Amino acid sequence: MSEQRTDSLKDLNIVITGAGRGLGAALALSLSEFGSNVILCGRSPEALDAIAGHIETRTGRRSKTVILDLADADSVEKAAKAITSNFPAVDVLINNGMMWLENRADPYDAAEVLGVVNSAITGTFLLTQALLPVFQKSERPDVVTIGSITSLPNFGLHAASVPFYAAKHGQAGLADGLRQMLWGTPVRSICIHPPWLRDISPLDDEWEAVPSLSKGALATNRDVVEAVCFAITQPRHITIASMVIDSDSRGIDYRGHLEA
Ligand SMILES: NC(=O)c1ccc[n+]([C@@H]2O[C@H](COP(=O)([O-])OP(=O)(O)OC[C@H]3O[C@@H](n4cnc5c(N)ncnc54)[C@H](OP(=O)(O)O)[C@@H]3O)[C@@H](O)[C@H]2O)c1
Repeated sequence: MSEQRTDSLKDLNIVITGAGRGLGAALALSLSEFGSNVILCGRSPEALDAIAGHIETRTGRRSKTVILDLADADSVEKAAKAITSNFPAVDVLINNGMMWLENRADPYDAAEVLGVVNSAITGTFLLTQALLPVFQKSERPDVVTIGSITSLPNFGLHAASVPFYAAKHGQAGLADGLRQMLWGTPVRSICIHPPWLRDISPLDDEWEAVPSLSKGALATNRDVVEAVCFAITQPRHITIASMVIDSDSRGIDYRGHLEA
């Protein structure tokens, strides 16, 4: 990331769902390093506090944490109130959190299917809708949805269950529908489709080695962070509506045998 780009992320209020671990935590740690105020949303207070602690150590700033279960409409409503009452303007919402459900032979129960669909679609849409008034107070509002190459046309199921696959397709539709709904407003809707990722954190030494990885290595959380930063720092007259990140693993090498 060029200094000019990271400079433009300073002092932005950025809400991140699923911020307690994985990609959401990597986004929170990176964006806070670039000077953004990150609002950490997730189900586990302990996980959110741990990430807020790392951010404070690295930046000297304490991040706001908000309990959010995207599969529970009441929790979404409470979280949205906590955000809007503390932050009159929100610049970026990163819709990152949703439940993963792996492909398997045994039947899925209703709670699993509802958990996947409601976290990906119902809660993600309701939270986005509830934050629209505070986006209007921002000079550069963006909604970023973390999709998946799973949702691209003709991509196979591979490790994903049918409910997860369907929910990811739904999320791509949600991002595209929001983009159309928001025509004529300052808010952009961006969707980023990662392939299977190596789960690394800015706290790991491996993070610094990513720029020198060879073709054939798995994509990483850092590659998605860079894609998000690229998309939200584009001039306002264009929207990166959809960005697909490819790797030689074809997005399916979840066992990692192609790792560098
Ligand atoms: N990892 C990959 O290879 C990959 C590839 C393509 C796309 N993606 C997408 O990237 C995003 C982040 O994935 P990841 O790999 O970091 O994590 P992951 O292991 O799939 O975990 C999902 C994240 O979503 C949160 N979450 C799950 N259910 C939730 C709910 N009901 N309410 C609120 N948060 C909930 C989890 O938080 P808890 O700690 O509370 O469970 C966790 O932070 C997801 O949208 C995923 O589909 C990932």
